[in-house]
Amino acid sequence: ALTYDLRGTRVLITAGGTREPLDPVRYLGNRSSGKQGFALARAASHRGATVTLIAGATAELAVPSGVELIPVVTAAQMSEEIAKRSDEADVVIMAAAVADFRPVSVADSKIKKGSAGPAPIELTTNPDILRSLVAARTAGEVAASTVIVGFAAETGDATGGVLDHGREKLARKGCDLLVVNAVGDGKAFGTDDNTGWLLAATGTETALPLGSKTLMASRILDAVTDLLPVDRCS
Ligand code: PMT
Repeated sequence: ALTYDLRGTRVLITAGGTREPLDPVRYLGNRSSGKQGFALARAASHRGATVTLIAGATAELAVPSGVELIPVVTAAQMSEEIAKRSDEADVVIMAAAVADFRPVSVADSKIKKGSAGPAPIELTTNPDILRSLVAARTAGEVAASTVIVGFAAETGDATGGVLDHGREKLARKGCDLLVVNAVGDGKAFGTDDNTGWLLAATGTETALPLGSKTLMASRILDAVTDLLPVDRCS
């Protein structure tokens, strides 16, 4: 049965990968398809939420009906679009794969091969959007009731540290929920299925068995709903 348990809730979701340009034709990017973020947007919209989807590079995906799409390219642009809207969001879900680093400079014209062999690429650190958002909430610029959900893409398996990395990341990022995805070996990035754990700041840890990204989205939204204030629809 359809439930509209997110009616009256404003949900901000990021999806896809950022692309950090090197020159007019090259960039540093990643394998995110945007499927998980789009599945979250569709599921939240079905449950009655007002959804804004900030998307970097994705596979060719249909924008879920009723969802506002804000296309971006770089981490800096994604950060800017989040900052503009986070004070009006009840929920922020960061499913995007954001580049941690970007080239220090972007060449105006295509970088030539040169005779001295490959030139090193100098990188600088991108803003951490999730941490900035949590900091803004702590500073009172974002409502204390705003639910913040992060994702973590970790290589390995449960015994190989995926969970430990996830726990460490949850503490470091300070979000309310962290979806830990096991990646590598063709897992999660670009696929239709996903698996992992849902870690809550309260200490609750829930295994997310292998299932479609749609199913994953509904499990994540169930956990979000539990954290929302009860009077939000009034
Ligand atoms: O797009 P799909 O093909 O469907 O694949 C889904 C997915 C595997 C990309 C997705 O489920 C996922 O795990 N996304 C997070 C990938 C990632 O970049 O994780 P991370 O461990 O590097 O980042 C941790 C969190 O901080 C993420 O919520 C990320 O959005 C955020 N972040 C990271 C870096 C940065 N500079 N700013 C951020 O806000």
